[in-house]
Amino acid sequence: MSQNPSTPSIATPTGSAYARLLSVGSYRPERVVMNDELVEAIDSSDQWIRERSGIVSRRWAATDESVTDMAENASRVALERAGLSPADIDMVLVATVTHPYQTPSSASLLAHRLGSTPAAALDISAACAGFCYGVSLANDMIRSGSARHVLVVGVEKLSDFIDLHDRSTAFIFGDGAGAVIVGPSDTPGIGPTVWGADGSQWDTIVNKSSWIEYRDTEGAEWPALKMAGQAVFRWAVWQMAPIAQKALDAAGVAAGDLAAFIPHQANARIVSAMVKQLGLPDHVPVSYDIEQSGNTSAASVPLAMDRMLEEGSAPHGGLALLIGFGAGLTYAAQVVELP
Ligand SMILES: CC(C)(COP(=O)(O)OP(=O)(O)OC[C@H]1O[C@@H](n2cnc3c(N)ncnc32)[C@H](O)[C@@H]1OP(=O)(O)O)[C@@H](O)C(=O)NCCC(=O)NCCS
Repeated sequence: MSQNPSTPSIATPTGSAYARLLSVGSYRPERVVMNDELVEAIDSSDQWIRERSGIVSRRWAATDESVTDMAENASRVALERAGLSPADIDMVLVATVTHPYQTPSSASLLAHRLGSTPAAALDISAACAGFCYGVSLANDMIRSGSARHVLVVGVEKLSDFIDLHDRSTAFIFGDGAGAVIVGPSDTPGIGPTVWGADGSQWDTIVNKSSWIEYRDTEGAEWPALKMAGQAVFRWAVWQMAPIAQKALDAAGVAAGDLAAFIPHQANARIVSAMVKQLGLPDHVPVSYDIEQSGNTSAASVPLAMDRMLEEGSAPHGGLALLIGFGAGLTYAAQVVELP
């Protein structure tokens, strides 16, 4: 239908040509939980956990430490490193599946606590892919002109949703927060995101019950996460390397040009299998933050990124391939220039 000539046309904003990660910050809770603390309840051993998952220890938040508390700590570091004030942020995206309120969002409270109000704010529920989803949304918002500086946080308190007697999850999950500031750039700093979801596997990583079932079923168990470990493992190993390759191709970057590979930290064996399938040359450093962090879902990629930059195993300004994948099932991969 053609527009009526008397109808004024709608003004639309023009964004920045490109966007990039301006900074990263992270927060790891104080308490270190070693494998030995968990093995008795699941009839396991430190050796089994190390060999089958690569995990040596993970961090658990304190009882009175919330998802929003951890997100605030990581965000303040990222803001300081970007040289920005909270008022410069006009969009707050918090990727999490463990903020224990259906509503309101953690993002809304975080924006208020930081002093970023009236920034728009919302939580992203895309599990372990949530942070990479957020980076993609931030990139698109900045390029389209709907935001100038976006705070993207990946944060989880998975210790609240663990069944300590469940052999497939008790030892895997950890807590923490990672945050990036995404802002305008004169040169391309975030490549095209290859992303998607496969709801046919909705029940492979899922809460044990809905809130309604929990309320209405007598003697119902707390809806901790449960996971079909082998099914998820196979999916990750066989389906995620091709997604990572597509993200490299879409960005026009060869594996050998990477300064770092920062995949979601689900299992060290999954990371190694992806490295092999991608044919990553030995000179490309790969994150194995899972050793000390376990699987922190949405927080895992920014936590791993910050560790690599702090330890100097990845260079500031180098190209990194990111990929997140998990419950949904969801996935997202992109090449970024490291802050
Ligand atoms: C959970 C996971 C580590 C289990 O490892 P696995 O090698 O697949 O283990 P399996 O379930 O095949 O079990 C292998 C054996 O170990 C035993 N086992 C399982 N869990 C165990 C545990 N915690 N401790 C000791 N033994 C265990 C099993 O009973 C089985 O014994 P059997 O061979 O005598 O029958 C692995 O499946 C995994 O990492 N999955 C994906 C994780 C992931 O990606 N999560 C989410 C993405 S966000």
